[in-house]
Amino acid sequence: MDTLSVDLGSRSYPILIGAQLLARGEQLAARIRARDILIVSNTVVATLYAAALRAALAGRNLVEVILPDGEAHKTLDNVARILDVLVTNRFGRDACVVALGGGVVGDMAGFAAACYQRGIEFVQVPTTLLAQVDSAVGGKTGVNHAAGKNLIGAFHQPAAVITDTSTLDTLPDRELRAGLAEVIKYGLICDADFLGWLEGNIGALLARDPQALAHAIRRCCELKAQIVGRDEHERGERAWLNFGHTFGHAVESASGYGSWLHGEAVGAGMLIAADMSRACGMLSAADVERIRQLLTRTGLPLDVTAVRASDALTHMGLDKKVQAGRIRLVLLRRIGEACVLADYPDDALQATLAAHFG
Ligand SMILES: NC(=O)c1ccc[n+]([C@@H]2O[C@H](COP(=O)([O-])OP(=O)(O)OC[C@H]3O[C@@H](n4cnc5c(N)ncnc54)[C@H](O)[C@@H]3O)[C@@H](O)[C@H]2O)c1
Ligand SMILES: [Zn+2]
Repeated sequence: MDTLSVDLGSRSYPILIGAQLLARGEQLAARIRARDILIVSNTVVATLYAAALRAALAGRNLVEVILPDGEAHKTLDNVARILDVLVTNRFGRDACVVALGGGVVGDMAGFAAACYQRGIEFVQVPTTLLAQVDSAVGGKTGVNHAAGKNLIGAFHQPAAVITDTSTLDTLPDRELRAGLAEVIKYGLICDADFLGWLEGNIGALLARDPQALAHAIRRCCELKAQIVGRDEHERGERAWLNFGHTFGHAVESASGYGSWLHGEAVGAGMLIAADMSRACGMLSAADVERIRQLLTRTGLPLDVTAVRASDALTHMGLDKKVQAGRIRLVLLRRIGEACVLADYPDDALQATLAAHFG
C-alpha cells in the first residue's frame, strides 16, 4: 500500500492506495474513527461493495443511503435525501459520511457533509478510475443544476481518501477508458514525462495490469495533491485541471447528459483545446497529432460533429469559467504545461469550433 498526503495545514489528509483495502478492512477501520457513520452509495456499487465496507466498520452505528445510479441523479433533491437521513438519525457533528462509489456519489456525499451542521467529516472510498485519480481528491463537492453542471457546490476536504484498486476489476471497459482521459490530462497539463510513460503503457492500462494502474493512480494523485496544496480554491493553477472541460462540458450538455460519459467528453474536449492551442501558436500540428493518437489508442470517441458549433458556443457561455463576459480557456503552452488564456483571437476560436463541431 502507498500513502500520499494532501498538505493543507490543519486540514491535511492521507490518500491510501492499495489492492484489497475493502476486503481486508483494517485500514478503513483505522482511518474512520466516528461511531455514527452514514454510508452513501448507489444501487450498482452498493451491490458490489457495501457488504465489505459494512464488515470493515462492524460494531459502529451504520446507516445507509443508496441513491439511483447515474449523472442525472446528481441533484439537490438527492443531497436533501442524504441530509434527511442524517437529521432523522440525530447524527451529531462527530458523525462521518463515507462516500462509496464514483464521482457522482462522492460529489453528492461530500456536499451533504459540507452542509450538515455547517460541515462534518467525510471519507472518500472511490471505486471508479476517474474518482480515484481526480474527483475524490481536492475537496470539490456539489451537484448539477438544470442550467449547468456542478453549478451548486462547496469546497469541503475529505478526512481521508481510501482507494482500493481492486474495485477497478468490476468497472466496465467504457468507464475505464473515460477515466484514462483524465489520467492523460495530467500528463498534458503538467508532466510531459508521465505522458511519455502513458504512451508506452496504454496497452497495459487497458488490459488492467494492476501495477500499471497503481502507478498511474499514484502519479495522478501526487500531481493533484501538489496542485491542490498550492491552490486549494482555484485562484490560479488549479484551473489547469479544467483542461478539456470547457469544450467537454459543451459536448456533454449539448448532446443531453447521458450520451457522453464525463471522461469521454473531456477526452474529445482535450483534443479541441489542443487544436485551439495550435491555432494560438503554442502547439505544433505534430503535437496535436500526438495527442490525437494517444486518445485514439485509448479507445476514446473523438467525433463531435453531431453537435453544432453554434450550440457548442452557447453551452460554453454557460460554463462557470466565464469572467466578464469572456470565456477563459485552459490551453497548452506546450505538452506538459497548461495556461489560462482570456485574450485569444476570436477568429481562432471560431475556426477551431468550425473544424471540430458540425
Ligand atoms: N469533485 C471533483 O473534483 C470532480 C472531478 C472530476 C469529476 N467530477 C465529477 O465526477 C462525476 C463522474 O464520476 P465517475 O466517472 O466516477 O461517474 P459515476 O460516479 O457515475 O460512475 C460511473 C459508473 O460506474 C459505476 N461504478 C462505480 N464504481 C464501479 C465499480 N467499481 N464497478 C462497477 N461499476 C462501478 C457507477 O455506478 C456508474 O454507473 C461527474 O459528475 C463529474 O462532474 C468531480
Ligand atoms: Zn473531469
